[in-house]
Amino acid sequence: MASLESLDFGTPLRRSEVLVTLEIDGAAVTVPSGTSVMRASIEAGSNVPKLCATDSLEAFGSCRLCLVEIEGRKGYPASCTTVVEPGMKVRTQSRALARIRRGVMELYISDHPLDCLTCSANGNCELQDMAGVVGLREVRYGYDGANHLASAKDVSNPYFTFDPAKCIVCSRCVRACEEVQGTFALTIDARGFASVVSAGQGGSFMDSECVSCGACVQACPTATLMEQSVIDRGQPEHSHITTCAYCGVGCSFRAEMQGTEVIRMVPHKDGRANHGHSCVKGRFAWGYATHKDRIKSPMIRAKITDPWREVSWDEAIAYTAAEFRRIQGQYGRDSIGGITSSRCTNEETYLVQKLVRAAFGNNNVDTCARVCHSPTGYGLKTTMGESAGTQDFDSIRATDVMMIIGANPTDGHPVFASAMKRRLREGAKLIVVDPRAIDMVDGPHVHADFHLQLRPGTNVAVINALAHVIAAEGLLREDFVAARCEDQAFATWKKFILEPRNSPEATESVTGVPAALARGAARLFATGGNAAIYYGLGVTEHSQGSTMVMGIANLAMATGNIGREGVGVNPLRGQNNVQGSCDMGSFPHELPGYRHISDDRTRSLFESDWGVTLVREPGLRIPNMFDAAIDGSFKALYVQGEDIAQSDPNTQHVTAALTSLECLVVQDLFLNETAKFAHVFLPGSSFLEKDGTFTNAERRVSRVRKVMPPLAGMADWEVTVALSNALGYPMHYEGASQILDEIARLTPTFAGITFAAIDRLGSIQWPCNDRAPAGTPVMHVDEFVRGKGHFVVTEFIPTDEKVNQRYPLILTTGRILSQYNVGAQTRRTANVAWHDEDRLDIHPHDAQDRGIGDGDWVGIASRAGETVLRARVSERMQPGVVYTTFHFPGSGANVITTENSDWATNCPEYKVTAVQVTLVSHPSEWQEQFRRFSDQQIRLVEQRKPVHT
Ligand code: SF4
Ligand code: SF4
Ligand code: SF4
Ligand code: FES
Repeated sequence: MASLESLDFGTPLRRSEVLVTLEIDGAAVTVPSGTSVMRASIEAGSNVPKLCATDSLEAFGSCRLCLVEIEGRKGYPASCTTVVEPGMKVRTQSRALARIRRGVMELYISDHPLDCLTCSANGNCELQDMAGVVGLREVRYGYDGANHLASAKDVSNPYFTFDPAKCIVCSRCVRACEEVQGTFALTIDARGFASVVSAGQGGSFMDSECVSCGACVQACPTATLMEQSVIDRGQPEHSHITTCAYCGVGCSFRAEMQGTEVIRMVPHKDGRANHGHSCVKGRFAWGYATHKDRIKSPMIRAKITDPWREVSWDEAIAYTAAEFRRIQGQYGRDSIGGITSSRCTNEETYLVQKLVRAAFGNNNVDTCARVCHSPTGYGLKTTMGESAGTQDFDSIRATDVMMIIGANPTDGHPVFASAMKRRLREGAKLIVVDPRAIDMVDGPHVHADFHLQLRPGTNVAVINALAHVIAAEGLLREDFVAARCEDQAFATWKKFILEPRNSPEATESVTGVPAALARGAARLFATGGNAAIYYGLGVTEHSQGSTMVMGIANLAMATGNIGREGVGVNPLRGQNNVQGSCDMGSFPHELPGYRHISDDRTRSLFESDWGVTLVREPGLRIPNMFDAAIDGSFKALYVQGEDIAQSDPNTQHVTAALTSLECLVVQDLFLNETAKFAHVFLPGSSFLEKDGTFTNAERRVSRVRKVMPPLAGMADWEVTVALSNALGYPMHYEGASQILDEIARLTPTFAGITFAAIDRLGSIQWPCNDRAPAGTPVMHVDEFVRGKGHFVVTEFIPTDEKVNQRYPLILTTGRILSQYNVGAQTRRTANVAWHDEDRLDIHPHDAQDRGIGDGDWVGIASRAGETVLRARVSERMQPGVVYTTFHFPGSGANVITTENSDWATNCPEYKVTAVQVTLVSHPSEWQEQFRRFSDQQIRLVEQRKPVHT
C-alpha cells in the first residue's frame, strides 16, 4: 500500500557515528556506515526504482529492479543489498540499467491483471509507479502465458483483503509480519513460479495467527493486500497527523481523508512512539466515531425512569448549571463533584479539574486513573520524586534483560510489544512475572528465560524475594546506591530485605514460585547488563499496589538500573491519556504537576491565575463519592468520558450510588452504562473531532488534530467552558492551544510545551522547560527528581481477600488485544470478529473437577456478587486461578470484584477475587436485572423527543 506518507528511502536508517563518503551520479554523498547504496542514492535525490525494498524493512534483494553500476565492480549489483563504501562511485541511471529494469517490469506486468483503471490502488500503487519510472510501454510476451490471475481472493479479514492475482511475491508482507510485528503469520509457500504468500498453514488470514496489525497491508506495494475501506470508498485525498485514542503507547497516525471522511489510518513513519507501526485497534477500529449509536444532541430528564428530551446546547448547559447550584444551595458546597477521563485530551481534563476547583468551589475531582495507575503515581513519587515512568520506548533497544510484571504487552500495548519482541530476537533476556502464561512467555522466536508464575496477590513477596537474593549474594550496586540514594533508608531496607523470611525458600509456599526459579531470575536481573522493568495493572490493582510499585523502584535502584538508556521503571499505561489525566491535576489532592493542594505557594499561584480562592483540603476520591452518595451527602456528579458503572468494582454498590444522585451529568459518545443512570446527557466528541494533546506512557505529549467537525457541534472542552460560564465562573479560550498555554504557564514540567513546539519537534516528553527545551527521554540521569533515591521497606501483607472452601478459586481480570477497556468503542467495530463475548478461562484440572467443558455456561460467585459467563478451558491458567476480561457490560465482571483496594490510593483490587465456579444453565439474577434495566433505558433513548418539537 502506498500511502500519502513521505519519501520511502528503501532501507532502514543506520545510526552509526562512522560516516562514509561516496559518489553517486557524480555528486559526493556522506551517510552513516552501514547505509545501503539505495538509501544513500535516494537521500541524494537519485531516483532508484524499487519494489521489494521499503525503509521499514531490511533489504531482501529479490525484485532486481534497483540495480546500479558501481565502478570497478562486475555486473549490476542490487542497490538495496549493497552497503556503501568510502570512495565508491555509483551510477543509478544508464541505458543498460534502463533496459534491464524495463525487462524486469515487463515480466511482472505480464502476470498481472490489467485492471489499473478500476483497481483500488489506482494512482497510489508502487507497481504502477515503477512501470512509469522505468518507461515500460509494451509487454512483448503478451498476457496469455501461465499466470496467477484466477487465484481466489481471501476476504476473511473484516479490514483488508488478499488478492493473490495481484501479488508480485516481493515478500514485503512476510518480512513486515516478522520484522515489524513479530508474529510470523505469513510465509512464501512453494518455489519459483508457484511461489505464493500463505497465511498460517495455507488457510485464511482469519484462521491464521495473524493479529490484524496491518503491517503487511502497509508494506504491500500493490493492491494485493488492501484496506477494505479503500476498496469501498477509493483513495484518500489529504491527511492529518494525529494520535491514536486507544492505549498508552500513543501511536502517531496519519488520518487519510476524503473531505471530512476518514478513509484509512496509517501509522506515521516519524511517530516516535511507534515508528510507523500500529495494532488492529488504532489502524482499523476507528469506525465507532461515526457509528449510528452516537448521540448527537444533548438530552435531559427529571428522573431516570422518564423518557429523554432532546434539548439545545444552551438549554442543557443552563439546566445543568441550575441543578448544580440548586443542589449546592440545598446540600452544601461539597455535595457535587466531577470525574475526568483518561480518554480525553490534556486540555479537556485540565478544564474539568479547574471547573471543579474554581466553579464548584471544592476539590471533589477524581479520575479513572484511580482504578488503574494511582499506585504508580504514589509509589514512584515516594521513591524517586516523579509520578511517571523513567524511560522512552526506544530505550528498550539498549535493554539486555527485561522483566515484565503483571502486564500483557501483546494484548495491552501491542506496538511496544513488537519492539520488545524485536529486542528479544536480537538476544535480550526475558523474565515474566505473571500468574498466567501470557503470549510473551512462549511466542514465535520469543521465550521467557524465567516465568515466575506467582499466585495472584503475592507480588510483594516475589519482589522481596528477588531483592533478597540480590542483597544476600552480594549483587547490590552499592556504589550506585552510595552516590545516588539516601544512606539511612537504604540501610534500613537492606536489613529488612536480608531477613530470612524474605528469601525465595521462605516465600515459595505463599507465592507458588519455586525458589530456584526466583534465584535464577534475580541473578539474571542483577548481572545480565542493562535491566529494565515494565509493569501493568497486575502490579497496581492490588491491596498492596503502591507497596509493589515501591518494591520495583527499590529493585531498580539497588541494582543501579536507573538513569540511562536500556534500564528503568516503566508503567505501561492502559488508556491513551492516563499519564496526562494524572499530570493535569485530576486527583482530589493534587493540582497540575502533582503539587499538593495544601501547599500554600502552589495554591496561591493558581488562585492568582484563576482569580478564585481554592479550598485547601483534598476532596473526595471516586469511592468516597459513591459512599457519600449512598449516605445522602453527595448529590450531583459531572462525568466526562468515563463509564464508572461498568469499569469500577462492585457494580451493585456503584449503581446504588448513581441512583442516589439527584443530578448525574454524563458526557460521552454513546449511551454508556453510566449514562443509563443520568439526568443530563451531553454528547461527547471523538479524538477525530477536536484539537488537543495526549500524553502517553513515556510522558510523550503528542498532538490530537481535528480532522472532522464535532458531530454534536461542540468539542468536549467547549462544553466544559460553557458549563463553567453558566455557573458564573468565566472561562474563555480561543482554542485548545490557549488551554495548553495556561497549563504550561502554571506547571513547571510543562513550561516549554506549546502546540508550536510540538509541531516543530513532532512530540515532546515532559519535563520540558529551560533545562530541557526538547524534553526528557530518560529521567533521573544524574540525580533523582527528589534529590536522593528513597528506599522503602516493603513488608508483604497478604490481602484480606482469602480463598476458602466456599470460594476456593482466585479470579483475576485483564484485557484482550481486539477490545479496549469497557468496549464502548471497539464493540462498535468489526473487532467483535475476534472477541464477541467475555469468557472465563479455567485450568483443565479445575474444569474437570467441576464437570465443566469448553463453552459451557458457568456461574462465578464471589463475596460481592454472582455472574454467568461461558468457560474456556485453558492451560494458560495455573490450577486454582481463573481469568476473565471486562469488555462487555452484560458480563458483569465487576459484579463479582470486591471493594478491597490499595492501602495508599484506593485503587481497587481487581486482580484478586475469591470465587467459586459452577456449571449453570441460566444467567445470574444480576444479569436478568441488568438486561431489563438496559432494555428499558435503550427504549427511553429511542423514544426521545427531538429537539425542535
Ligand atoms: S502480498 Fe504484497 S507484499 Fe506480499 S508478496 Fe504479494 S505483492 Fe509483495
Ligand atoms: S496483519 Fe499483521 S499479523 Fe497479520 S499477517 Fe499482516 S503483518 Fe502479520
Ligand atoms: S491501541 Fe495502542 S498500540 Fe494500538 S495503535 Fe493505538 S496506541 Fe498504538
Ligand atoms: S528493491 Fe532491490 S532488489 Fe528489489
